[in-house]
Amino acid sequence: MIDVGRIWRSSAGTKAAMAVSGMILFGFTIVHLLGNLNMFLGREHMNGYATTLHAVPEVVYATRVVLLGALVVHVAAMIKLRGASNAARPVPYKVVTPVASTMYSRTMRVTGPIVLAFIVLHLLNLTFHGVGANALHPDFRLQADGTTPDAYHNLGTLLRLPLWGVFYLVANACLGFHLWHGAVAMFRSLGLSGDRQMATARMGATALTALVAGGNVIIAASILSRIIGQG
Ligand code: HEM
Repeated sequence: MIDVGRIWRSSAGTKAAMAVSGMILFGFTIVHLLGNLNMFLGREHMNGYATTLHAVPEVVYATRVVLLGALVVHVAAMIKLRGASNAARPVPYKVVTPVASTMYSRTMRVTGPIVLAFIVLHLLNLTFHGVGANALHPDFRLQADGTTPDAYHNLGTLLRLPLWGVFYLVANACLGFHLWHGAVAMFRSLGLSGDRQMATARMGATALTALVAGGNVIIAASILSRIIGQG
């Protein structure tokens, strides 16, 4: 039987757990973006998409369990790897040299907590309506069936408020940096090395990031500037 505890305790195992959980979360952001692009097609399409999403509660809850599990593993792996790297260097360097790895960890240390805070606030904005916890939405509504969120209205009214609109823009830009660095690290963990392979890895990371973060930023900016999500 696979000894999960032993794999987790090894540094390579923790890195693999971080890469796999990161891939699951990255995959979700791509699917999520494709669904949210329905905002450009209007209320009927966006709410139809929300209705399809909520139609099979078992799938919804299974997806939530997988995503929450991936998020917990991702954060726990980050805490463990950071603890190990701090323990290996108990005395801080006096002179900080901005080499690529320092740049990488600095970016991840800043963007990681912002993305995490965004996810919590985002769920409080749009998802926890059933338990009355959507206090962070000015006018949360359900569709005529009384159970499915009126996603078109809820997004439109939220993101056209400058505070939330700008927050979503900034958070998704941070998500872009986080995904880019994470994807490059993931390609490296998968064995890519050398100048040519790393150039390809960076191109792949750029394409994926531009798709996800760029798409999210365009949706948020279009609602904030009232091009979509009105009425
Ligand atoms: C501009 C960007 C985004 C928009 C417009 C957006 C929109 C939405 C909407 C409308 C919902 C509610 C769907 C429903 O219940 O019918 C939702 C739920 C959710 N969003 Fe986003 N989202 C964005 C970015 C993100 C990002 C970057 C993440 C994660 C990193 C994320 C994670 C989630 C999760 C986990 C849910 C809950 C899904 C569930 O009910 O289980 N979203 N989002």
